[in-house]
Order: sequence, then structure tokens, then C-alpha cells
Amino acid sequence: MAMGLSTAKPYRRRLFLLLRCTRTVEPSPKCPHHRPLSCSSPAAAAEPTHLRRIFRPGDPNRFAPGIPDAFLGVRRFSTSVDPISGGDKNLERIFIQNMAVKPIVVDGVDAVPIEDERKEEVDTVVASAEEGKEELCGGKVEDLDQLEGGLEVRQEKEQSEVEKEAWRLLGKAVVSYCERPIGTVAANDVTAANQALNYDQVFIRDFVPSALAFLLKGESEIVRNFLLHTLQLQSWEKTVDCYSPGQGLMPASFKVRTVTLDGSNEAFEEVLDPDFGESAIGRVAPVDSGLWWIILLRAYGKITGDYALQERVDVQTGIRLILNLCLSDGFDMFPSLLVTDGSCMIDRRMGIHGHPLEIQALFYSALRCSREMITINDGSKNLVRAINNRLSALSFHIREYYWVDMKKINEIYRYKTEEYSHDAINKFNIYPEQIPSWLVEWMPDKGGYFIGNLQPAHMDFRFFSLGNFWAIVSSLATPRQADGILNLIEDKWDDIVGRMPLKICYPSLEYEEWRIITGSDPKNTPWSYHNGGSWPTLLWQFTLACIKMGRPELAQRAVAVAEERLPNDKWPEYYDTRSGRFIGKQSRLYQTWTIAGFLTAKMLLENPAAAAVLTCDEDLELLQGCACCLSKNARIKCSRLAAKSQVVV
Ligand code: GLC
Repeated sequence: MAMGLSTAKPYRRRLFLLLRCTRTVEPSPKCPHHRPLSCSSPAAAAEPTHLRRIFRPGDPNRFAPGIPDAFLGVRRFSTSVDPISGGDKNLERIFIQNMAVKPIVVDGVDAVPIEDERKEEVDTVVASAEEGKEELCGGKVEDLDQLEGGLEVRQEKEQSEVEKEAWRLLGKAVVSYCERPIGTVAANDVTAANQALNYDQVFIRDFVPSALAFLLKGESEIVRNFLLHTLQLQSWEKTVDCYSPGQGLMPASFKVRTVTLDGSNEAFEEVLDPDFGESAIGRVAPVDSGLWWIILLRAYGKITGDYALQERVDVQTGIRLILNLCLSDGFDMFPSLLVTDGSCMIDRRMGIHGHPLEIQALFYSALRCSREMITINDGSKNLVRAINNRLSALSFHIREYYWVDMKKINEIYRYKTEEYSHDAINKFNIYPEQIPSWLVEWMPDKGGYFIGNLQPAHMDFRFFSLGNFWAIVSSLATPRQADGILNLIEDKWDDIVGRMPLKICYPSLEYEEWRIITGSDPKNTPWSYHNGGSWPTLLWQFTLACIKMGRPELAQRAVAVAEERLPNDKWPEYYDTRSGRFIGKQSRLYQTWTIAGFLTAKMLLENPAAAAVLTCDEDLELLQGCACCLSKNARIKCSRLAAKSQVVV
């Protein structure tokens, strides 16, 4: 609920930075306009309602006075500074009223009266406009060679014909805003019998492999622009039925739209129109977007050496907002993140509500990345403490309760149930009958994996690729578990790689399960799309995991399988059937993250050292202590201390 500005706690002053493109520019080749295209406009009050929900960089009059927020589709932030969870009472949330731009928070400055503060905000906006223009529209990333600490990314190797085609297609997918590259479109399927739906947008998660391909090639401007513009889009508006998502949410996707300027037929401007899930099929908030953004931000710094970007106050604020959202208290009992179904790459109903592995692995990775990037000062030390506590609890939880191998399945098979006690073995009251019949045969003697989800009395035993890959990449898995996952993939090659890498999950839901769990979703029929379909974009993530574990030859084998087919099949989004033999029923062609994922996988294999920009090493300190006080309480035992299987090898 919006609170009056006067309720703001008087210990910090907010300043605002405006990044805007104020130039009037000649029409770009992409814009079919004959008149000049302006990159920003000051007035929003007069525009049609449907446009008011659109983000306009640098638009200080974005909100029409007197019109309720709900009708404007506008998020007015409370100014309260609430304590945050986890015993971390000083960790502040930052709320802003009447401003849709990112706040710059200046630590240690005394509060000024509200009126002065507002005036100062406006002054700052005006003063920053020029700087913002430079930063975002005219700013040039330094040449990689000049940057200290940046990765040497020059590729010497002659490109194959397939790679050349992939680069050409990736170039065609680039989306510009104010004549600057800002992202890549999800699919460029001109032949589409399917509707474009939202495949003509820039998806946050889809852009990650594109970003990496560009960075590894030494092109960083597009990534920098993407990071800064998506930061500005970070949740500020009302969404479904007048209800707002938490502040800090990153959109699933955005579109660059060209609109007439103030009703004039003479001038046009480009605006960024984000989708936080309010238009997306299923209306699901994309929990993974912010996590990917953090992961990419770290990789950008490591590759370019341009650490100044992550040190910027607005970028630091963006990181904090995402973390605050993830670390805030709820009704949850577990250190894992509680989300709704379809809140990640699998963005439709697939029975992955609760604590799906994909989100946990990305969450862990984002926490590790943030910890490296957060500027340490008095204002951030509590946040860092909260991150460390969460990392430690989360890694224990996943390593201990999500891991299955022959030994563990056998334990579950013999579980006692209904244990009412503090030191129950079967903590989640799993009934052994839940062990699916396919798993009994499928589980190899050597190897194992993290299950897809864990809820009270419920283990989802499906194997989900992305979560398992990121558990390896981020060191959420112990080295032994990480090796075990790759052993399993090698052993079950035909099921997970087959004729097209890689299965999004294994096995598919069939018959009654499909009907009940997917809600009879015709797109997610058995062995199709999210329900056991094969997604070539997963290749780069598999490659990362293989390189981290010193087994690049596995990734090479998978890349070779894909390289054979992808260009002939026109780079589809996904494949169907148990072995990935057919192009997906409703698959888009020229899907950008298929193309970029292939290129990134190739480049990583040629330059395995580059994998380090995305991976994290085991942090032994995290495992030593336990943040909880249970060990001191003789009556209640701490799981961590009780657990014998918490071995790090
Ligand atoms: C589909 C996928 C999602 C992807 C989007 C754009 O909705 O499920 O993961 O981001 O397409 O490619």
C-alpha cells in the first residue's frame, strides 16, 4: 500500500538518476518512419491510457495527477523503510513514491524535508539527464584490450560455415532502441504459421546466451545497454487486476515500440514496454529474470573488466532490490525459494510450483554472484550476512534433501513415515510408494541427480536439466554430486541427449498425470515442449557444467549432435519425441537462444577458461558454520549437525 512521503524514515536521502535519450535522430533502418524519431518525450499525461503503462525513459511527468494509480497502471511505491527477514532487521527496503526511475541511494546523508527532497529529485533528474544520455545513448564501452582484469576474448579460429550462419542470424536478431543495440528478439521466424505472440520481444532469460556470445566475441555494448535498460524497467508498475508484484521484480520480456509523440503525426518516439507476466500466458511472474540479470552482470564485469558498471549506485540498488525480494520473510519453512508454477524457463503449468530445482540453483548462483559484487559498507554488511546465511542453509538443504542416487532411493524405499519428532529421518513424510516405477530401473549404479522439487510429503523425482546444470556451475552441488550428475547423463545419454540435446526434463508426464498436472495442456503433451521436449539452448549450460568438471568431451559430443541438425532444421526452439527426433509441433524456427546457445557452447569449448566468468567454486567457509541457534538448544537438533551425509569431497 502506498504510504505518504512524510512517513519516510529520516535516515537516508534519495536522489534520482535519469537515463534518457533526448536526441532527435534520423530514422534508423529498422524504423519505417519518414519523420525524425525522438527517443523520449516529457509528456505522458495526455497519452491514451493503454500507453501509460509503457516505460518512457526520462519522463518526469509520467503520472497524471488526480487519476488513481490503478487506472494508470502505475506503481506508486511506499516510502516506508521496513526491516527485512532473517533476523536482519537493518536491511532496508527502498520504496519510492511518484517516481518510476531507479533511485540512487546515498548512504550516510541526513534526511531533508520532503518538499526539499522532491525539489532536489527534480533538479537531480534534470542535472543527470545529460549524464544519462552519455551513459546510455552515447556511452562507449572501452576497448577490451584497454581494460584491466578483463578476459582475453579474441577468437583466432576460422569459423565453420555453420558458425558463420549462426552469427549472421544472431546479428539479424538484434533489437535497437534509440539506435543502440539493446537485446535480441526471441525468434525471427518469418515463415511462422504460428502467431508471433510474444516471440518478437526481448526475453531476459533468452538474452543471456546472446549476451555471452557477444561478450566472448568482444562486443560488449549491447550487453551493457541491456543491463542498464532492464534495470530501469525493474518493477515499478501495476500489473494484473491492480495488484503489484514485489518491488525489484525484473520483467520476463520487453518490446521496443514506436509511438507518436504527444498525439502528433510529425514525431515519433521509441518506448520500452515491459511484461512482468501480466500479458504472458498464464500470468506468471518471472522469478528467474532478476536472478539471470545478476548472473549476467557478474559475467559482464569479469569478461570486460568494466567493474565500474556494477559499482554504480543505481546498479547496486538494483541488485539489492532483487535480493530483498528473494530474501524477505514469508510463510515458508525452507531456505529454498517458494514460487508459483511456471516461474522460470518452464513458464506454463508443469507441476513445478513450490520449490523447483531450477529456481533454487539460479537463486544460489545469483546469491554467490551478488556477494562478489555488492560494495561493502555499513549499509550493506547486513545484506551480505543475510546472503551468507541463506547460501549456507540453501546448500545444505539441496545437497541433503534433493539428492538421489541408488543409496538414497533405497533409504527412501525403507522410510518409516508419520515421524512426529525433531530428529525425524523422513523429515518431509515421504511415502515410499511415491518412488516411481521408471526410477527403479532408470537410476544408474554410479551417479545420481537432484530431484525436481521437494514439498511436504512430495518428492518430484523428474530429472530437470537446467537445475542440475546450474547446481554444478554454481557449486551448489558438492564435487561428488556434480560428478555424479555427469555420470548419470553419460549413462542415460539416449534419454537426455538422444538425437537432439537436451531434454528439458525426464521423463514426460503421460496419461492421467499429464491430465491432472498440466491441466490437459495441448502444448505440453508427452515428450513435447516443456513436457520432455528437447531444447538445444540448454547446450551452453551443459557445456559450462562439463568444463567446470573437467569433462569437456561430453559437451563436445552433444554439440556435434546438434551441429548436424540445427542449420538444416532452421534452428528450432525445441524438438519432440522421446529421442528428440522431430522438430517441435509448435516450435518457432530461427529461435535466437538456440542459435546463441550453440555459438556460446562452441566458444566456451574453444576457450574453456572463459567458463570461469559464470562458475563459482566451492566455498568451504559456507559449510563450516551453521547460522541457526539450534545446536545450542539441547531439545531441538540442528539438521546440519545431525546429518552424516554432509560430506564435501
Ligand atoms: C517460451 C519458453 C520460455 C522462453 C520464451 C521465449 O515461453 O517457455 O522459456 O523464454 O518462450 O523464447
